[in-house]
This record gives sequence, structure tokens and C-alpha cells, in this order.
Amino acid sequence: MKKSSTLRVLLVCLPALFLLASCCSSVFSDEAMEKKIDAVMEQLTLDEKIALIHAQSKFSSAGVPRLGIPELWTDDGPHGVRPETLWDQWTSALWTSDSCTAYPVLSSLAATWDKDLARLYGRSVGEEARYRKKNVLLGPGVNICRTPLCGRNFEYMGEDPFLAGKMSVPYIQGLQSNGVAACVKHYALNDQEFERHHTNVHVDDRALYEIYLPAFKMAVQEGGAWSLMSSYNLYQNQYVSHNSRLLKDILKGEWGWDGAVISDWGAVHETKGAAEGGLDLEFGSHTNGVDKNTANAYDYYYLALPYKAGLLEGKYSQEDLNDKVRRVLRLNFRTLKGDYNGSFCSPEHFADSRKIGSSGIVLLKNAGGVLPMRADARKIVVLGENAIRPMVVGGSSSSLKTKYEISPLQGIKDAYPDAEVVYQRAYQGEPKLTGNYNYGLYDLTDPRSDKQLLADALAAVEGADYVIFFGGLNKNKYQDCEGRDRTDYHLPYGQDGVIAALAAARPDMIYVNLSGSPVAMPFTDDVAAILQGWYLGSETGHALADVLTGKVNPSGKLPFTFPRELADGPIKTERQYPGIEETKGTWQAYYDEGIYVGYRWYDKQDVTPLWAFGYGLSYTTFEYGKASLSSGTMGKQMTVKVPVTNTGTVAGAEVVQLYVSACEPAVDRPVKELKGFEKVWLEPGQTKTVSITFDRDALARFDADAHQWVVDAGSYKALVAASSRDIRAEASFRVK
Ligand code: BGC
Repeated sequence: MKKSSTLRVLLVCLPALFLLASCCSSVFSDEAMEKKIDAVMEQLTLDEKIALIHAQSKFSSAGVPRLGIPELWTDDGPHGVRPETLWDQWTSALWTSDSCTAYPVLSSLAATWDKDLARLYGRSVGEEARYRKKNVLLGPGVNICRTPLCGRNFEYMGEDPFLAGKMSVPYIQGLQSNGVAACVKHYALNDQEFERHHTNVHVDDRALYEIYLPAFKMAVQEGGAWSLMSSYNLYQNQYVSHNSRLLKDILKGEWGWDGAVISDWGAVHETKGAAEGGLDLEFGSHTNGVDKNTANAYDYYYLALPYKAGLLEGKYSQEDLNDKVRRVLRLNFRTLKGDYNGSFCSPEHFADSRKIGSSGIVLLKNAGGVLPMRADARKIVVLGENAIRPMVVGGSSSSLKTKYEISPLQGIKDAYPDAEVVYQRAYQGEPKLTGNYNYGLYDLTDPRSDKQLLADALAAVEGADYVIFFGGLNKNKYQDCEGRDRTDYHLPYGQDGVIAALAAARPDMIYVNLSGSPVAMPFTDDVAAILQGWYLGSETGHALADVLTGKVNPSGKLPFTFPRELADGPIKTERQYPGIEETKGTWQAYYDEGIYVGYRWYDKQDVTPLWAFGYGLSYTTFEYGKASLSSGTMGKQMTVKVPVTNTGTVAGAEVVQLYVSACEPAVDRPVKELKGFEKVWLEPGQTKTVSITFDRDALARFDADAHQWVVDAGSYKALVAASSRDIRAEASFRVK
């Protein structure tokens, strides 16, 4: 090589070496990072900028090798790290080294009401993502449970924005402490799966700001999320991925967020909207990624060649382009820093999963103290298809391949190694898993008729010390699954009748409901005990058995209301849900209920739900003392204190909830709203004083006309509660 060309090579490579070196340093202040972004921006060609802002495979986007900027790898999310897929397809790549730890679903994490556990969850799953070299884990989801029928309630954190937001914050921080970005989804108003690509949401600004946006705001501002996913639906007749009001004005403007907006997979529909609406990184266009062009389909992404052509013609602004590139670089530089490798499927991770799982189980009924189960049980009859059905696979994009999954039946057997454990399924649902790639498939087909299945179950229960029925939904299509809402609030496969028949034979039967959404339970009075058992991942059976046997005292509380019947809830018309197909192919969903979602609705109507928001029992009892406030007048903030005593005989944890209520509101307001919660552990007889601090913002309402948050003067109440329907103490204060 000639001297001059050696020099040229050095000159070209030096900036790359410099950039690479600073990229890999483990201490990376915001200022240093912004400087580095400036330096990179100066060197990037238009083609390199374009390459950074759209996918190059199903789950990755390109880096800039010349400048030492690595590729960006994403993966689902949120309950574990999804198995590898083929480059251009959704189907499994059939690796043998990608079986992960499966964690409990997010609705059950919300049911723990435990911020420390949310942090543990984020940190633990983040270690797995780091090990798998993912820059971005696609989660958590914080959409509001507007209807029990939404197919993805299990991936979200309930019906209340404060709870969902506050539980997402530590999850995000724990996850990102591994150098793996959270991607908070699905922003915004993706509250149903029915026609999710074609539904235009009509919501007034008050409900938007008070109900549907706060969890996202907390996730980005308090949690510091590095990325966020724009949703499939439309808002104000514009796809959210092109929606400058949601993305530019609110998210990046009002909230001052500096992260990157990643489109949901296939949520981009045109170049102009994607260029100008505030989207930063395009994923999943053209479905399988290969139909558009024989050479390279990814060049035909809306933010690829078509965008480049428009930029060259001067149709799109350089400012928008540069903003996207800067944000994607920031995301890239924030992630996978340092020399830490993460860890995968460690015993600690399975232990984390079990601990989080058992802490989110909610004891709904325990007549005559049938639970916890006695250690000396000799014969236990386990019933129900969900006792044997794998549930880690299913649900669509959050479906996982796990190293092992303990079924509820196995959990009982492990807890009672010396007892006779008899199993009968009692009913048959869909025996196969549908719509879930090519891993974890199973076939539970049973040749017996429904009548025979029930008869065999009835015959089995005789003489049993315990009869436990594991039923509910199953993450198959239409049963807690992405892309399809449920079509019925009642349990599928005739379970209502089967449970009632079995409970008639054994009124001491324990019913364990596995679902990620509220369901009807018309058999509530017929059974002795009810547990909400969710989908708990790899350690499902052990976590459930821990609570059934009393090894763990249940302390979960519901993150959403279970109405008796769907008709009791706020959604009364087709126009509200699932929406009306006013023009062919587009549904209009009118959120006519406004801010009255979940308990806000049941409070307003004074309708008693089957199980209220915030409700859950324990094997012990708690007594609340008098509440006291740090001041009688609201300053910047205020603290409410209440002594709580464990009045029973076993140790346990209580979730103390704080609701705030305006006494004579100037405008229509919810009867009360959750504004604080703490989980407190108490030994028998022990008393602890629980302190919950809240600030002026907790009292604010959104004035849509003035487009601002307003705190009205007047009197308010701080309500200290064991559930939204069980106020234990209150104290009044004024706002001047
Ligand atoms: C889902 C997202 C998911 C993405 C990638 C989409 O269909 O809505 O939640 O992260 O696919 O799998």
C-alpha cells in the first residue's frame, strides 16, 4: 500500500475509532453523549441517516459500521425475551439456546401493588434481554383497561392511570439499569384489539389527559423510558404513527421527552405522515418484509427510499430528519453500554418470577377459612383444563418459549409429594394452540364427550380432602390474546355450568381463575374460595401452590374491577365499543363515557361490582387506625399517616390505598381517585404507621377549554382504604 493511501485509510478510520471508543465507555454522561451525537451527525451521509431510521429485519435496524455504530436489536417483551425469529418472518428461527425465564403477566404485576417487585421484575427480565444482546425490550404496556373484553388486558396494568404509571416507573428503571431500553406501548388509545388497525378513537381532551395519557407521561418523565411505541389505531382520523398532536405536540413538546418513537410493527402507512408526524424509527411495514422488492424490501419502507427521494426533492424538512436520527442515535448510545453481559435462565430469575407471581395472586373469597390448605391432606382432586394447559405460549407477540413451565397440577403435586393427587379436566376447550408460530405447540385433545368429562370429574371428587378447579381463559385467540378481543364476558367452553355442577357436589370447592382480564363469576356463591391466579410464567404451579398452602400469605389486590355483568359497566353502546363502521373499513369508537372508566364509573353509578378495584383478602386481618394529615391546608404537598395493625395470627402484607375526593367540586368529578399506595409487611400483632405523600398535582383536573391542569380551591378528603369500596379512615383538608 502506498503511503498516501495508508494515510487516507487512517483519516477515514480515526473518527470511527474515536466514536467506537467513546461508545463503549461505561460512563456516559448526557452531555458527553450529546457531543458525540453532534460529532456523528456531522459525518453521516444521507444514506446512512436513512438507514438508521427504519428496520433492516423483522426486529433490527442498521447501524453505521463505518462509524462504529452498532445495529439496534429489539425484541418482545414484556414478560420475558421472545425467541429468535427468522430474519424476515414472524416464525421461530428454531434456535435451541433461546428458552427464557417467563415472568408473570403485567396485569398480575400490577396486582402486587409493590413498586419494589416491579423494579425487581424490570431488572431481572432486563438481565435476560442484555444476555440476548437486545437493545430494546418491547414493553411495558400501560394502556388502560377500558373494557374487560380487550384482548391485551393481560399485557397492561389495569384500569387506573396512577397505578399503571407508578408500577411502570420502577419496571422501566430496573430494565434500563441493564442498558436495555424500555419501549412503552401502545401510545396511545389502543384500548381494544377489535379492528385495531382501523379504529379511529374519539375521546375528549379531559379523558385523554386524565385517563389515557398519565401512565405514559409517568413512564417517560419519571421512569425515563428511552423509547416508546406508537400504536396501530387512529386518533383524530390520523394513524397514531403519523399523529403530530400525540407525538410532536404532547409527547415531545408538552412532556419534553428526548427518546425515540418506534412504530408498532406495520403501523406506518405513508411517507408524509411518518416523515412529519413525529415518528423516529419504522418497523414491520409490508408485513413479512419481503414482498415489496426482490433485492431489498427494507429499502421500500416509508422512511427509506421514498423518504430519501422526498428529501432530495425538498418535500420534507431536514430538521425532521435530523431530529429522528439524533433520537435513534441517542437510543443506540444509551443501550448496551459497558462490559456487562447480563444473565439468562439463572435460578435467581426463576426465583424472581415465582416471588412476583405469588405476590400478585388475589384471594377473592375464603368462606369458612377453607384456605390455606392443610399440610396433612391425603387426597387432593385437581380439576379443569387450565391445570394442565401450557400458558407461557399464547397471546401472540408476548408468547414465550421457556426453559420449563410448572403447571398448576405439577405445583400441587410438588407441594404434596405424599398425598394422592387425582386429575380430571372436567371440560374441554380448544385442545390446540392456534396462531402461535412454531414453538411450544401442543395438543390436549381428549376423546371423551363433554358429558363424560363432567361425569368423570364428579366421580373423582368423592372422598377428597380438597377439590381445586383451575379454569378461566387460556391465551388462545379470543381468550386473552393480541389481535382479537373476547366476544363474551363469561368464561368459555361452558365452564359456568361445569363449575356450578361440581360445586353442587362439593360446596367446599376452591376455584382458581387463570386470566389476565376480568371475567364473570356467576358461581361465586356456590364455591368456597376463589383466587385470581393470572398467568404466572415459568413458575406458575409453584407460585399458585405457595398461596394455596399458605407458604405465601396472599397480598395481591385487583388492578381492575370485575363487574357482575358487562352491562353494569360504562360501555353501553356499540358506538362506544367496539365502534361503528361508518365508512367501509374504518371503525369509529366514541369514548362517550369520558373519564368514567373502571371504579370511577361504578362509584358514580353506585353500582356494586362483583370484585372492586383494589380488593383482595389475606389469611390475616388488618385494622386501620385514625388517619392524620401533616397540615389542614394543602401547600406544595401533604402527608397522610395511618397506623395499620395485623390483627390475625399470621404475618402478611397489606396494600394501603389513598384516594382523594373533592367535597364540593366546581365541575363534574369522580367520587374519588387513587393518588397513592404503599404495601406494608406486618408480623402478627405488629403495628406500623404508613405514610403516603401526595402533592397538589394529585388534586388537579384537566380543564380542556383552557388546556391546563387546574386545582380548585375548596375542601377535599384524603381517603385511606383497603379497596376502592372499603374506606378505613379519612381526613379532610382545604385548598386555598
Ligand atoms: C404488537 C407489539 C409487538 C410487535 C412486535 C405487534 O403486533 O402490537 O406489541 O411489540 O408486534 O412483535
